[in-house]
Amino acid sequence: MTFEVEKVRHDFPVLSQTVNGKPLRYLDNAASAQVPNLVIERGSEYLRKEHSNVHRGVHYLSQKATSAYEAAREKVRKFINAGEAKECIFVRGCTEGINLVASGYGRKFINEGDEILVSQMEHHSNIVPWQMLAEERGAKIRVIPMNEAGDLIIDEYVNLLNERTKMVAVSHVSNALGTINPVKEMIETAHKFGIPVCVDGAQAVPHMRVDVRDLDADFFAFSGHKMFGPTGSGVIYGKKEWLEKMLPYQGGGSMIRTVSFEKTTYAGLPEKFEAGTPAIASQIGLGAAIDYLNSIDLDAAFAYEHELLEYATERLGAIEGVRIIGTAKNKASVVSFTVKDIHPHDIGTILDQDGIAIRAGHHCAQPVMQFYDVPATARASLAFYNTKADVDALADAVTKVIAVFA
Ligand code: ALA
Repeated sequence: MTFEVEKVRHDFPVLSQTVNGKPLRYLDNAASAQVPNLVIERGSEYLRKEHSNVHRGVHYLSQKATSAYEAAREKVRKFINAGEAKECIFVRGCTEGINLVASGYGRKFINEGDEILVSQMEHHSNIVPWQMLAEERGAKIRVIPMNEAGDLIIDEYVNLLNERTKMVAVSHVSNALGTINPVKEMIETAHKFGIPVCVDGAQAVPHMRVDVRDLDADFFAFSGHKMFGPTGSGVIYGKKEWLEKMLPYQGGGSMIRTVSFEKTTYAGLPEKFEAGTPAIASQIGLGAAIDYLNSIDLDAAFAYEHELLEYATERLGAIEGVRIIGTAKNKASVVSFTVKDIHPHDIGTILDQDGIAIRAGHHCAQPVMQFYDVPATARASLAFYNTKADVDALADAVTKVIAVFA
């Protein structure tokens, strides 16, 4: 399978610049991916010709904006194979999506003594909302452990499930380790106990085909900006059987059916969860990002990116003093590493001088750092527009860092 990476790179204008006199090597895609021309042009066309508020006006522009916004929702539905567009709630990003579920499901269904399972490798956005809820409701957080490779220990997961468990919150792909979790099997097991599962899909959607119905996920959250769309866009998919029963997340305009001082009744889906003026331009941009992904050979892109991940793992792993953090068999996009006792921030700063963008820090996953007993890691995260030359530049620069500190 061949993938025309150079052709695809031309679609992303940001990639063709130099940084510190060197070609930009953008390896921070897990933090935020770059945006293709199609998304930039769609956003600009919307702002130049179509902008107005949605669902509120009978005039020409309001109808144009509304139909573009709802068309974006339908694109999302198709892309993740949801049953109905109204199950795809627009939110600012994955974090807001998970907070929406913690609030709307949790305040209704989680009570004192109940348990919420989260995995050891979760991003803070799939830990903290559940902790806040547990504190409020008198519930307990229990942790699905992982092993040294960064794989969840599934036998222990199964042992943790019981009649008090009211939610399983797990990432599809770990942002700090790159592990692809066996979410389909985990969901199937949770469902045997009647327990819903909330999947943090932020790092999965840009790197693999996702079918929420095949996974049978109850909730699936992701951000637009990690999948080549604008910041401020994102989706929480939820099965309508759950969304209909849940409490609203925020109150305000658009989410109501009737309001009086005595009583307010709520709108149906998806409006019930979209109070206030939404991020119209961003969500239309997300729709354009999906158009873009549909316009390229996505399976070839994902296969190419996977080969690149193997190449990066091999090149970095061959450097003496480099420790790769997260060596699960099934991984996507991410190579986290440490280099001797050099602080990852120093690595990131020196790499930047060579035009190489990586992330250094705890990656909003402090429990992962605690598990490996490191303060932070350096993390290179790939997208399908990266090249072997990017990886070679990274490996050469890491070798240089070691020489600088020797
Ligand atoms: N969650 C993003 C990351 O992993 C910001 O970098």
